[in-house]
Amino acid sequence: MKESVKVFSPATVANVGSGFDILGFALSNRGDIIEVLPNNEKSLRIINESDTDLPLNPAKNVASVAVAALLGELGSEQGFDLVFHQKISPGSGIGSSAASSAGSVFGVNELLGRPFTLKQLVSFAMQGEKIASGVAHADNVAPALLGGFTLIRSYLPLDIVQLPSPEKLLCTISHPDIIVRTEDSRKILLKEILLKDAVIQWGNVAGLVSGLYTNDYELIGRSLQDVIIEPVRALLIPGFDTIKKAVLKAGALGCSISGSGPSIFALSNSEEVAARIEQVMQQIFKSMDIEVDTFTSHINRQGQKIL
Ligand code: HSE
Repeated sequence: MKESVKVFSPATVANVGSGFDILGFALSNRGDIIEVLPNNEKSLRIINESDTDLPLNPAKNVASVAVAALLGELGSEQGFDLVFHQKISPGSGIGSSAASSAGSVFGVNELLGRPFTLKQLVSFAMQGEKIASGVAHADNVAPALLGGFTLIRSYLPLDIVQLPSPEKLLCTISHPDIIVRTEDSRKILLKEILLKDAVIQWGNVAGLVSGLYTNDYELIGRSLQDVIIEPVRALLIPGFDTIKKAVLKAGALGCSISGSGPSIFALSNSEEVAARIEQVMQQIFKSMDIEVDTFTSHINRQGQKIL
């Protein structure tokens, strides 16, 4: 076995407007760096070299839970050290737990000689999401592992479809300095929806997927409409409606909540518009005295990267 592997595991935007729990895409310029090393202890050890706090108990850490699921499937007792240089803040809405789980199972799989395909790794990484949010959703871990846009066509059985990522698509993120726990922002969602809303939502999911296949940026933009989840979760993000209106006016193709929030994402297809969107996002959060981190990224088509 190799002595170690160091991976870049990307941040991700889940839901993508209408696709609650089924759509997501990976970002190029934000992610965690995770180093995986075999140990002789027959146990999983978490080593935190980041500024953020991470659970060190392997039963409570999303990454070790995901790796334990992988090793359990193989019947392996091999131990590993998982060293985290976390760059994605937990509770930011851009797939912090997913990056940890996905990067760790990817690294372990590499060291073990790739017994599993990337798609198979998704189901292990999902076990980490269950620890993080109470639900084993795959819409962050799938794009984190496979790159680009992914669709979870079905959970039972797990059926993941990779979608094209139009060349010029840019994603601008604003991450306000507030924490929204995915578990909490799932609890407030309605358990039942109206048929008329479902019809709007289905149309938008299909429109978005069609736009990705045909490079139709306008169609992608107008399909970023979520009439079910966004209106409820928007209440947790100060200024969401104002920001959405302002970035659309600044030329964004569309805008919605990234994952369970509080990050907001806006899509565009020009650097100029993306820069304007960032400016608008910063101005509005600043006017509310809320610190914000903004950045613009291309769609990451590669997913995990060995460094
Ligand atoms: N689909 C999940 C949710 C994504 O919206 O709760 C969390 O990042």
